[in-house]
Formats: sequence, C-alpha cells, structure tokens
Amino acid sequence: MDRVHVNGQNVNELLQDQAHVWNHIFNFINSMSLKCAVDLGIPDIIHNHGKPMSVTELVAALPTLHPTKACNMYRLMRILVQSGFFARQKLSDESQEDGYVLTSASRFLLKDDPLSLAPLVEFLLDPMLTKPWDFLSIWFQNNDRTPFNTAHGKEFWEHDFCGTKLIDLLNKGMASDSKLVISVLIDKCKGLFEGLNSLVDVGGNTGTVGKAIADAFPHLDCTVFDRPQIVDDLQDTGNLKYVGGNMFEQVPAADAVLLKWVLQDWNDDECLKILKQCKIAISSGKEGGKVIIIDVVLKNEKVNDEAFDLIETQLLYDMAAMVVVGGKEREEEEWAKLFLSAGFSGYKISPILGMRSIIEVFP
Ligand SMILES: C[S@@+](CC[C@H](N)C(=O)[O-])C[C@H]1O[C@@H](n2cnc3c(N)ncnc32)[C@H](O)[C@@H]1O
Repeated sequence: MDRVHVNGQNVNELLQDQAHVWNHIFNFINSMSLKCAVDLGIPDIIHNHGKPMSVTELVAALPTLHPTKACNMYRLMRILVQSGFFARQKLSDESQEDGYVLTSASRFLLKDDPLSLAPLVEFLLDPMLTKPWDFLSIWFQNNDRTPFNTAHGKEFWEHDFCGTKLIDLLNKGMASDSKLVISVLIDKCKGLFEGLNSLVDVGGNTGTVGKAIADAFPHLDCTVFDRPQIVDDLQDTGNLKYVGGNMFEQVPAADAVLLKWVLQDWNDDECLKILKQCKIAISSGKEGGKVIIIDVVLKNEKVNDEAFDLIETQLLYDMAAMVVVGGKEREEEEWAKLFLSAGFSGYKISPILGMRSIIEVFP
C-alpha cells in the first residue's frame, strides 16, 4: 500500500480535518433526526411524562413503533442529546439508570407550545423543500430564478400549497415565530409605535403580529395585508382588518408599514419595488411616518465563539432564502443602498431580536 504523504503536516491536524469533512458530509442527519423526533412526537411524550424517561418507557409510549425498531431508539436519542435537544438525567436519586429530559431548546418542539417551531421543522424538511437543494449546482449553471423553480417548475410563492398539509404547517410556523418577536416588540419597544394612528403589516400572513399590535394599542388602526388566498376568508375585528392584494402593485395607506420577514424573500430589484410602494403608502399619512422592517442584518466581521452560532444560522438562512424563494440576507451597507434607492432619507438599526434586527426607515 502507498504511504500517505502528510507533507510535514501534523497527523493529528490531518485527522481532525478529515473528521471535519465527514462531519459536513453527514450534517443533514442532525436535521433529519430532529424531524424524525418531531414526526414521532418524542418531545411531547417526554414533556407529558413529567420526569426523566427511560428508553424502555419511551419505547412503550410510542404505540406506532414497530417492535423490531425498538432497539434503535437509544441511537436516535443519542444523536439528539449530542445536538442539544434532549439531556440525560438519573431516573431517581436511588437509580443508576439515566432517562431523557427536555432541554431549553426542546420547548420549541412541543406541538401545543405557543412558540412551537415544530410546524417549521415539518415544513422546511419536507421533501418539497429539501428537493431544491439537489438542484443547487444545476441552478448555478442555468437561468432559473431559484433552485426551487428548477426542482418544481414554478416559484415558491406561485406554488399552490392550498389544500395540502404544507400550507397549514407554513402558516402555523410563521405564527409561532411571530409570537416571540411581537412579545419582545410590545414589551421592550413600545416607543416604536408612539405617535402612530394606523399601521399596515405588509405580508402579515394570517395576522398573528397584526392582532397582537391591535390588542396592545387599541387606538391604532391595524391592517393585515397579504395575498388574497391568505386573507380573504379572515374576519375583521375591532381595530384590525384584513386586505388582500399584491404588494408590488399597491400597499394600503397608513402612518407606518411593517415588513416582518418579507424582504429577505426577494432580490434587490423586487425589494426596491416593494419599498417604493411602502413609501407611497406612508406619504399620504401624517408626518413622522416610517417603515419598520424586521429582518436579519448580516455582520461582515469576524465574531467570537459565542456569536458564532447566531452568525452561522444567519448564513444558513441566507442560503435557504436563495434556494427556496430567491431572496437574500443583507449587510447594513446593502440595506442602506436599498433605502437610498427607494427614496428614503435615513434609517436606524436596533439589533435586539437575536438573529434579527428592527430597522426603522424614514422618508
Ligand atoms: C415569510 S412570510 C412572513 C409572514 C409574516 N410577516 C411573519 O413574519 O410571520 C411572507 C409573507 O408574504 C406574503 N406575500 C408573498 N407575496 C406577496 C405579495 N405579492 N403581496 C402580498 N403579500 C405577499 C406571503 O403570503 C407570506 O404571508
């Protein structure tokens, strides 16, 4: 056998680098194991158990588990302990045996938790959404707008998910994501809404954010604006109303426009069109109007270990935006350029929402 040439490189480093490649070859297994646990309802089963749960108890609580697969359950749980979704704890003070408990991250996997991301785990890891990744390199060599289009023959927002389980998962997932963000906004950023009499939440989906703002600020007239197929069947209540339309053509007039998790879905030319419509919408109102954007502001600098996870997640988001919807995450300079081109005079970034920031944009 040929000797491996290490070219003077430390052999331990070489093995470490080899393991790094293996780690990335297999990284999708973390995602798919997470999806499997959510599919089987494991986080809810452990949560309902109320104390550390042995693997035998877990197996017994999974009625649909085929008996021949019971012996593999500890292997699925072991990788999920490694990725931080479960932890091991002694079954009792006297016991030598460990059981599984939830971690702070697994709260987001409980189906009935108001902040549950379980629907997004199911949606974003559905074959419909993972298939476009197989087409990424082909897309780099063709003229399609997105790998999603290359894989499915149409764009994500043109796809008729209605009538499938996917639309429900998507709407539910967006609603739970919004609950945490909006409670931070209402608790910590009341000033954001000061002096406003009306607000339109553009791309506001089924109205989780609009409803919360309308409840917290009863003097504010709130409009949730989204595609007709999303809002047409929803009922106006009190100071909240739903309007269907196309944000590229017209946005209802208001003192302020909210764009949460919308601009990241579109390329620069498309964002420019949306922002121009938003500027028209706020210019018919009173002075002091603004556009409030909630989206990622990418950092273009080296970060410490603590921030690494956050930055990596932002970069993963950016790739997902490119592959699924043809959008992008932006650095501050890219945002500033967009605002200037759309005719706005200034902006203020408040990085207070974890991965995302609040950007106020002024006419
Ligand atoms: C990623 S979702 C964000 C939803 C919500 N703002 C949130 O944060 O949960 C983007 C939203 O934009 C809406 N949308 C897409 N194209 C649109 C269009 N042309 N006009 C109005 N809304 C649109 C979608 O229906 C969807 O509800």
